[in-house]
Amino acid sequence: LQKYLIAPSILSADFARLGEDVDRVLASGADVVHFDVMDNHYVPNLTFGPMICKALRDYGITAPIDVHLMVKPVDRLIPDFAEAGASIISFHPEASEHIDRTLQLIKDSGCQAGLVFNPATSLSYLEHVLDKVDVVLLMSVNPGFGGQSFIPHTLEKLRQARKMIDDSGRKIRLEVDGGVGVDNIAEIAEAGADMFVSGSAIFNQPDYKAVIDAMRNELAK
Ligand code: DX5
Ligand code: ZN
Repeated sequence: LQKYLIAPSILSADFARLGEDVDRVLASGADVVHFDVMDNHYVPNLTFGPMICKALRDYGITAPIDVHLMVKPVDRLIPDFAEAGASIISFHPEASEHIDRTLQLIKDSGCQAGLVFNPATSLSYLEHVLDKVDVVLLMSVNPGFGGQSFIPHTLEKLRQARKMIDDSGRKIRLEVDGGVGVDNIAEIAEAGADMFVSGSAIFNQPDYKAVIDAMRNELAK
């Protein structure tokens, strides 16, 4: 198991050249493609759905695709994303009427399942479903937009989540999403995260490899 995973959020990629841009970020050393699905209902923004995920697979993207669902309701989209080539499907507990059932649907579809926590959402949702979760994703901004600042309180929450995961004895990824960059990735890792979503910090720079190398360099410290 690779210690740290870097997952660029293609929310900040060039949509008119998406395949090429995703290829380029993967060739620059990224591990996972983070795919932000927004529905203008659960969050105040609208992005893309399973067709675009499938288009990336058809284009030849073989890296894991980490689908972050910011949609409500959730369940109906799960089989569509599984067929479209998703590797991980994560959802917000507030967006599902039956969290355990949604997790099971994801597992049954052959994908890994993740639960996403908004900055003010309690980790208590995890208590009864830790045996079904492969990824815990902590939002370090309010979901909906790229380019926001990291909310410092997330560090404390990461420590709490890290403890819950370690106590469970299961191999669960602890992913963090929002405002992650070269400047803060080391302290975020130190707080317990091992999977880092980063959108604007990578895609807003001309040299993706320079940013990803700098992140790995910080993580190696
Ligand atoms: C926010 C999304 C994030 C976002 C991260 O709702 O879930 O994945 O794109 O972007 P940055 O890294 O720019 O905060
Ligand atoms: Zn995301």
